[in-house]
Amino acid sequence: MDIITLELGHYPLREQIAGSAYGVIWRAGGPHGTSDVALKLVNEGQMARALPAQRERWIASAASEIAFLQSLEPWDERHIVRLLDSGWHAGLPVMALELLDGDLARYMSSHDALPPVQAFAWTAQLNQALAKVHQYGWRYLDLKPANVLVDKRLGVVKLADFGTNRRLDALHAHTYSGTANWQAPEQFFPAPGGGYATGMRSDYFALGALCYYLVTGGHSLSYCLSCGQAYREQLAQGAQRLLAAHDGVPPTLLADEEARFVARLPAAAVDPALALLRGLLAADPAGRPGHALQISRQLTAIRAAIEAPAAGLSAGPGPRQGTAKAAAAVASACADAAAGLGAAGGKLRLPPLADLGRPTSLNGWAQL
Ligand SMILES: Nc1ncnc2c1ncn2[C@@H]1O[C@H](COP(=O)(O)OP(=O)(O)OP(=O)(O)O)[C@@H](O)[C@H]1O
Ligand SMILES: [Mg+2]
Repeated sequence: MDIITLELGHYPLREQIAGSAYGVIWRAGGPHGTSDVALKLVNEGQMARALPAQRERWIASAASEIAFLQSLEPWDERHIVRLLDSGWHAGLPVMALELLDGDLARYMSSHDALPPVQAFAWTAQLNQALAKVHQYGWRYLDLKPANVLVDKRLGVVKLADFGTNRRLDALHAHTYSGTANWQAPEQFFPAPGGGYATGMRSDYFALGALCYYLVTGGHSLSYCLSCGQAYREQLAQGAQRLLAAHDGVPPTLLADEEARFVARLPAAAVDPALALLRGLLAADPAGRPGHALQISRQLTAIRAAIEAPAAGLSAGPGPRQGTAKAAAAVASACADAAAGLGAAGGKLRLPPLADLGRPTSLNGWAQL
């Protein structure tokens, strides 16, 4: 049996969980008989065949992922996969990560559509995770179901795979990166001067696409499918073909997609949920929310509207007034918590419906 030795001890490999061009993930025993972990190794076979520049990119990407995960504080890891150990094997970087129950794509393919309140709770958790990435000075740029891990026992999701991270302060347009099916227009279509002018709002677009996917039980936006297909057929050149075919960027959210989305929601939640979805999926980054707190408030209001006692799937008079009141109270408590205003008696006044995390820090994003 193969054994990988990292800083904290020996990890016997048990079975391969997943593999890609870049990485291979194994379930492995923990050191000294501790619980199993997920070992992420750079794919040695592909590495041997890759060009030197590609090899260097893979190693740099793994090293940057390790450095990012190491820089997190324990309270940051509520919705980000935890790095337990790291080291080198056969001259390549290795990560030992907490073992979760597989990724969201697999989860959604074997489950019925999520209850809407869970879909928005998971969207809120991913918003928190992205807020952490942004807080540490990075753009994530690869939000997609395969990079979201599910913890079935706790019913939560965690963000993984930080190899695509780019610094927020590197303002110049960059080379193509990420996954075509889950990209904002500015990440898929080159800027006028060349390169891709992404920012943290590019992550918010992907959050919108993922929210749509969660609420509709695994549907992808037709905009995203078109970009994915164009990339499969012509790589980055596919973007030009798509622009020519649509006389510009294809619409990011169609009327029948809005209808499919709202059909899953109780009447009271339709307006705030649609406002959030349209905002996140705005083709122009300037039209998207500017900050995680804004998204968090909207999500909190949506969840309050869904959970209000009178919220049923059928539209009808009644629930809106009470719901709006509850939502406003929750949103205001959430804003207080985020601003560090709710620390009376050493305890934050956290809204009951919100998944706001443990109040471990008054300054960070732990409250969001
Ligand atoms: N900690 C973990 N626990 C359980 N499964 C995991 C874990 N980390 C990764 N996986 C599984 O391995 C897959 C690939 O992981 P990850 O995205 O980190 O690697 P990657 O090589 O960068 O992938 P890709 O290049 O396809 O984006 C995930 O989609 C998931 O199915
Ligand atoms: Mg991945």
